[in-house]
Amino acid sequence: MNSQQQAQIASILEDEILRCAHEEFVRLNRCLPISDTATNVDRALRELQKLTRDEEPNYDEWTTLFYMLWYQPKHINLAYRILSAMSDARLAQQGRLTASGNLHVVDFGCGSLAMQFGLMLIVTDAISRGEDISQVRIDGFDTSGPMLRLGQDLWNKLLRRVKSAKHNDPWLQNMQQALDLTLALNGAVSPRVRIDEGDERWVSAIHAVYPSHVGTLRQTMQSLADTMQPTAAFMTTFSRKAHLMTQASPFENEMYQRHDVNLGAGLVGGLQQITQWRQNLVIGIDDRGGFQDQAVNAGFVRNYLKGLVNWNASDVAHLIYTRR
Ligand SMILES: C[S@@+](CC[C@H](N)C(=O)[O-])C[C@H]1O[C@@H](n2cnc3c(N)ncnc32)[C@H](O)[C@@H]1O
Repeated sequence: MNSQQQAQIASILEDEILRCAHEEFVRLNRCLPISDTATNVDRALRELQKLTRDEEPNYDEWTTLFYMLWYQPKHINLAYRILSAMSDARLAQQGRLTASGNLHVVDFGCGSLAMQFGLMLIVTDAISRGEDISQVRIDGFDTSGPMLRLGQDLWNKLLRRVKSAKHNDPWLQNMQQALDLTLALNGAVSPRVRIDEGDERWVSAIHAVYPSHVGTLRQTMQSLADTMQPTAAFMTTFSRKAHLMTQASPFENEMYQRHDVNLGAGLVGGLQQITQWRQNLVIGIDDRGGFQDQAVNAGFVRNYLKGLVNWNASDVAHLIYTRR
């Protein structure tokens, strides 16, 4: 993707993430007194703040809404950056992204489908290089219904947006092809993974490592490694949890080559509209007296929502493997 294409998709994704989140906010906020809005925002941000303490938030509807307005763009970009690094390794090894043109990805803790969006971008790149890709299957699984639902809503919106774009742009046409090729089977429980021998199989777990269940994650990843025998795998987490991620990885063995490479930047810059939306929310709550409730920590909410949203997931550790 060249810088012009990056700017184009960054702008499209920001529009659609904001549209998705704004509609969700209007739905959740309907008929609520302003004090309840403030309470819900405060609680959702406290849930997300748990991530900085390595605790797992409750990804309910309000928490998911604010996840979309901060982490979702960063994680779409992170998935794309990881896939780009892996793609570079594959191009060096075999000259193309996939050996067979049929790709099957299983994504543990898929959340709002960041990996699916990243995958669509890397497949767009491959199609743009002239590679023949005939099918992309992705099975994502996640325990949070709201995360899955908002991710699917965003995917549907992106699909409509790209389909309605003018067709004199070959790159957007390639993106439309990548979107059309993608068959997603995301769900709340571990998907029954259907293995097709001819598929190129990848496994991912993007920011899904928590100290409380490293053992369970290891078991799940081991089971995926055994059944899928993936040709590539990738995991990410905050760098302070890098050791936990390595413990949970079933790919630290001689069958897999680990690529200790620096990630490229991917999409860059600030998401000005989303930043503005978050700041306007604070002004709106303030203007309507929502912060008068003593139970709401106005300083915390103001401080949390004032920051510039950008594409860069900071402080990330990653593992990228390809099968030898
Ligand atoms: C920090 S979010 C990351 C989501 C997504 N991978 C991304 O990069 O945006 C962690 C996700 O793991 C999910 N999760 C936690 N425990 C899980 C489990 N046992 N099975 C499936 N998903 C789980 C959560 O619901 C949440 O969506």
